[in-house]
Amino acid sequence: MDNSAHAQIEFRSVTKVYGPIAAVTDLSLTVRRGEFLTILGPSGSGKTTALMMLAGFEAPTKGDILISGKSVAAVPSYGRDQGIVFQSYALFPHLTIRRNLEFPLEMRGVKASDRATLVERMLNRVHLDAYGDRVPAQLSGGQQQRVALARALIADPPILLLDEPLGALDRNLREQMQGEIKSLHREFGKTTICVTHDQEEALTLSDRIVVMRGGRIEQSDTPEALYDRPSSRFVANFLGEANLLDSPELVCQKTNSLGVSMIRPERVRIVALDAPLPADQNHRHTVNGTVEEMIYAGPLRKYRARVGGSSLLVREHVASGQQIFRPGDAVRLDWLRADVRLLSE
Ligand SMILES: Nc1ncnc2c1ncn2[C@@H]1O[C@H](COP(=O)(O)OP(=O)(O)O)[C@@H](O)[C@H]1O
Ligand SMILES: [Mg+2]
Repeated sequence: MDNSAHAQIEFRSVTKVYGPIAAVTDLSLTVRRGEFLTILGPSGSGKTTALMMLAGFEAPTKGDILISGKSVAAVPSYGRDQGIVFQSYALFPHLTIRRNLEFPLEMRGVKASDRATLVERMLNRVHLDAYGDRVPAQLSGGQQQRVALARALIADPPILLLDEPLGALDRNLREQMQGEIKSLHREFGKTTICVTHDQEEALTLSDRIVVMRGGRIEQSDTPEALYDRPSSRFVANFLGEANLLDSPELVCQKTNSLGVSMIRPERVRIVALDAPLPADQNHRHTVNGTVEEMIYAGPLRKYRARVGGSSLLVREHVASGQQIFRPGDAVRLDWLRADVRLLSE
């Protein structure tokens, strides 16, 4: 792939202060060429501020941002050559879809005949050939979002910035659009930074996730590594569900007292009290409990079981022949000690 189509991005100790509020504090981060990086965090954690500084809509209070090794401090937003899909960065309502797509090309001085070719190609790419003459209000939310993506990509910028791009869509559409964003990334290979508070979106789309908390990076890693080896209670709870093993009956011998240990609900096995012991019993921590709640969730079944003073969440894939437990049933719960993770507070 043509390397000029990508760029490396670097935040160097970037801080942004609004009066008494530190929105982003000492953010250092390098995004590789062609990488899809997601900044994930709860509302107010500084995600949009980080993106706005990269886009040139806000200036860092301290620190610097580099693109392809050069500081962009003196480059205004319109000179940064980035495609942007912001939740609030709406399409031009009075322009047709075709004219919306043509706009970034016009801004860059692409000549009319080339513009027409590029617009038709892009309309086709996002499956909106039949909609070119409509205005945005005549399209569904998902279609409008595809136009926004198309408009961000059409001038072939080296960097794509997405701020909660699917936030306004309902669940099915969101999943469909996640697939669309992934396939556009595979095809165009743009260096992409996506900001979201949606863990599922982050896990699905990203090469790497940066978890932010209170304006700082809490942890950064591949989706799998973050989910599997969260370093803190915050990350464990933000990415998926976690059982904290902090009561005496749940603490495994192998963990120490420096932090709290955690087991993911899908790593806990739930069986009848008289079920035969598994072959790897020696490697497991086993407790008895009582089912408090059974939650049916399509392909998944969730249980909440009381064990002494605490409550454990268990998640299993529904399979034929599986025993189903009801509230009040006495059960045995076990998990591999190797699956227990130690978290900092
Ligand atoms: N223009 C602004 N003026 C004052 N405070 C702001 C401004 N923009 C953001 N903030 C504050 O900075 C913090 C981070 O905001 P933001 O980057 O929008 O978070 P996120 O996108 O993660 O929800 C919040 O406390 C927010 O209220
Ligand atoms: Mg935001």
